[in-house]
Amino acid sequence: MNIPWETSNVLQKRATKVLPLGVNSNFRFWGEGITPYMQKAKGAYLWDADRNKYIDYRLGFGPIILGHAYDEVNEKVKQEIDLGSMSAMTYELEIEVAEKMVKMCPGLEMVRFACSGTEATMHALRVARAYTGREKVIKFEGMYHGFHDYTLWSTYSPVEAYGNSRNPIPIPSSSGIPRPLNELITTLPFNNPEVLEKTLGSIGDQVAAIIAEPCMGNCGAILPREDFLQFIRSQCDKYGIVFILDEVKTGFRIANGGAQEFYNLKPDLATYAKALANGYPLAAFGGKKEIMSIIGQGVAQGGTFTNNKPGVAAAWATLTILQREPVLKTIEKRGKRLMDGISKILTENSIPHCMSGYPAMFSYAMGVDCITDQRSWNKSEKEFYLTLAEALIERGIMPDHDPREPWFLSYSHGEAEIDLTLETFREAVKAVKKS
Ligand SMILES: Cc1ncc(COP(=O)(O)O)c(C=O)c1O
Repeated sequence: MNIPWETSNVLQKRATKVLPLGVNSNFRFWGEGITPYMQKAKGAYLWDADRNKYIDYRLGFGPIILGHAYDEVNEKVKQEIDLGSMSAMTYELEIEVAEKMVKMCPGLEMVRFACSGTEATMHALRVARAYTGREKVIKFEGMYHGFHDYTLWSTYSPVEAYGNSRNPIPIPSSSGIPRPLNELITTLPFNNPEVLEKTLGSIGDQVAAIIAEPCMGNCGAILPREDFLQFIRSQCDKYGIVFILDEVKTGFRIANGGAQEFYNLKPDLATYAKALANGYPLAAFGGKKEIMSIIGQGVAQGGTFTNNKPGVAAAWATLTILQREPVLKTIEKRGKRLMDGISKILTENSIPHCMSGYPAMFSYAMGVDCITDQRSWNKSEKEFYLTLAEALIERGIMPDHDPREPWFLSYSHGEAEIDLTLETFREAVKAVKKS
């Protein structure tokens, strides 16, 4: 990448001595000499350590829904932390956040808080197993539900190793995942009702949970085919399986009630994190009272920081703003203009592509017409996506380097930022277009 990242490179060298890869999440590492470090962020903008300014479409992997360092959220956090940063007792603000969530999300009757999306899905799986008395879990290839060992299978693993789609092989996405857990996980291609039906026909009565993102938020934002989510719902009803909808990316982003509102869908449990607190650490899982009520009845759940005040206060302020203002409608309108503009530029340049996702979190796969699952996405031109992403970053537009990760928009991305992004996108395409 052709960017003067001198300070970033100095920081990377220093960081590498004390942090593996010089970062605190593998996803923040783009390579030696090409990993930006950050100085600050405000609204739709981010400055790297060398003070280069970008319109930010990574938004911390999606949590920033209002804008970076959003004043009203920060004010509420400052006010609340002066009253104590956390406590071994429950405080009223926690109850208010839970009440807001239950009001906003159609399928939620009760919730419990956690600190990260990983924790939320881990707790939801335990509750599902306890409720059903079964142990097996079904997940979809290319979906990511956090770093715990139960579902970090066939996520980033080479698709070539997955075997035939009628009988997929679950592949662990890391060394260190205990092999016996293979017995508990079944991985299936997304958007394929026939394979799901066939699989449940043989193991349906042993399955505790089917966990799914509503769209493939960690693989090119591939949308569910019409009725696929409803099909999962009906199969869960048929076999007495708990349907866990992982709304860590879609929750409080694609609609105030997330994918449940968007698709008029009622899972048994749902998980939240990212946009819930506009970038502060709060997560949650919740759902039907009948299922959630077993927590504390022989089912363990908790955590020292699960009611951390900055997270709870930020969630309170974020949800209050979402309820008060047309935040997500505004993002949807601007995001749609951006998606349409990008598609038009690619078409004008004769670049075959497939737009996917929602205006608030979208992607485009290049060199393919239609993608429905990780296997078809894998055939897209990922190297070309990366070349274009780098050309954009060099010009002050910051999507993720990784084609799996969607572009995210916030309420602070105004019409002017969309105009500038489209203008820059046109220039970048021109610069990288293959002759
Ligand atoms: C759908 C989904 N679930 C769970 C997680 C894990 O969340 P966290 O990174 O907060 O642990 C992520 C993170 O990107 C996610 O996208």
